[in-house]
Amino acid sequence: MSTQTATLTHKNANTISKVYSKTKTTYESLCDKEATLALVGLGYVGLPIALEFAKTFKVIGFDINNSRVQLMKQHIDPSKELVMADFKNKDIEFTADPINLRKADVMVVAVPTPVSKDKTPDLTPLSKACKTVGEGLSKGNIVVFESTVYPGCTEEVCIPILEKISGLKCNEDFWVGYSPERINPGDKKHTLTKITKIVSGSDSYAEDEIYNIYDHIIEAGVHLAPSMKVAEAAKIVENTQRDVNIALMNELSTFFDALDINTHDVLSAAGTKWNFLNFYPGLVGGHCIGVDPYYLIHKASSIGMDLDVISSSRKTNDGMPAKVVELLKANLADQGKNLSDAKVLVLGATFKENVSDLRNSKAAEMSQLLNAQAKTLDIIEPYADGVELFNYYGLEKAQVMDSDYDAVVYAVNHDKFESIDWDFIKSITNTESVVFDFKKSLGFLNDNNGVKYLTL
Ligand SMILES: NC(=O)c1ccc[n+]([C@@H]2O[C@H](COP(=O)([O-])OP(=O)(O)OC[C@H]3O[C@@H](n4cnc5c(N)ncnc54)[C@H](O)[C@@H]3O)[C@@H](O)[C@H]2O)c1
Repeated sequence: MSTQTATLTHKNANTISKVYSKTKTTYESLCDKEATLALVGLGYVGLPIALEFAKTFKVIGFDINNSRVQLMKQHIDPSKELVMADFKNKDIEFTADPINLRKADVMVVAVPTPVSKDKTPDLTPLSKACKTVGEGLSKGNIVVFESTVYPGCTEEVCIPILEKISGLKCNEDFWVGYSPERINPGDKKHTLTKITKIVSGSDSYAEDEIYNIYDHIIEAGVHLAPSMKVAEAAKIVENTQRDVNIALMNELSTFFDALDINTHDVLSAAGTKWNFLNFYPGLVGGHCIGVDPYYLIHKASSIGMDLDVISSSRKTNDGMPAKVVELLKANLADQGKNLSDAKVLVLGATFKENVSDLRNSKAAEMSQLLNAQAKTLDIIEPYADGVELFNYYGLEKAQVMDSDYDAVVYAVNHDKFESIDWDFIKSITNTESVVFDFKKSLGFLNDNNGVKYLTL
């Protein structure tokens, strides 16, 4: 646990905790299982948090999607991140019935915060979750938001809904906090308890309680931000920084390509300087890095500001699927081939490596463009569900790899592709072919006789 300590210092601490006992805080009541913590939204973020708290606290796991709840009752993670053993020996009740939230003293909200078609924040799931939480809210409760939002959203959007629906007053009857989640799906090293948790609260009482609640489970320690706005901004800036840096690499890679310079060679050389940041060109998809900057852009525009660097980076990264297809076309043309006559293989369609999540996947968007333009397209995707691929993108998974490909696009660096090497690639491609290896997964090509090798 963290080396920092936090004590309940707020004058209201004893008044509030008398809901359970005269001397106990909510945190202490959770430890003694006299109080209950509920997770609202059990996806990539919510389920791991619920199960971690359920090691020692009494937990209710609530989700509006009953079919997901039924799977979790059978110890199956619908997001395919956790295994059955992760559900063992946990004090948790999974439910799709919001009435059960009335039993909760602390509610942690982890519902999606996507963007609409026009790239503005779609706060519908968050607003609906606030209504549901508001209906179950009682005096003394604490609500913590984990969903990624723009700075100010918790105070401007969430708290007013909670107050309106419950008829209770924030910082008098109930308390609120914001604690952004920083997990990285598919990453087995940086797991929930190993990442420092940022917490914040609506007043010092909320700060103390929320600090202690998270410090109970987070081995890496807890960082108390001075306000909810700071905590909201901190999360969104982490992802925006990555987006902007990758956009810079994508722009440079287009430029270096025109100069016939290999971008990876440039980055290897530049990376020998101690303060050079290691970012690489790539596809930015998913529901975090490719989405969160739009929340900042929206907030800035609401106060009459333009975030030019961030907006331009989004444009660059969103344009990558089309750029890749154009490059492929140009390189096939150099070999005297048209994409419309070409047989193409795509390796990987998810938004990143080793996950099954297809949402906002740039590899899938690129495959859609190829599907419309190539003669034949085979997609090998070992993690994602074939039905989802079809429903989201109208694409079909190939069951096996064929041969005689004119082009191979190694789009997602899944561990399950580990055995694919140059010998294999050469065995399934025509003598003249284009191999587009986004992340340089195939490594050095000794003899490129007939193979045009491209990296991003
Ligand atoms: N996935 C990540 O890598 C990641 C990392 C950090 C932060 N975040 C943020 O965390 C939040 C949740 O993301 P996620 O990836 O877990 O989403 P997700 O889509 O995997 O899961 C969200 C869950 O919430 C449920 N839900 C939707 N509306 C609900 C409602 N009104 N009441 C109860 N349940 C509801 C859905 O059925 C789903 O099971 C988002 O704001 C996201 O930006 C995600």
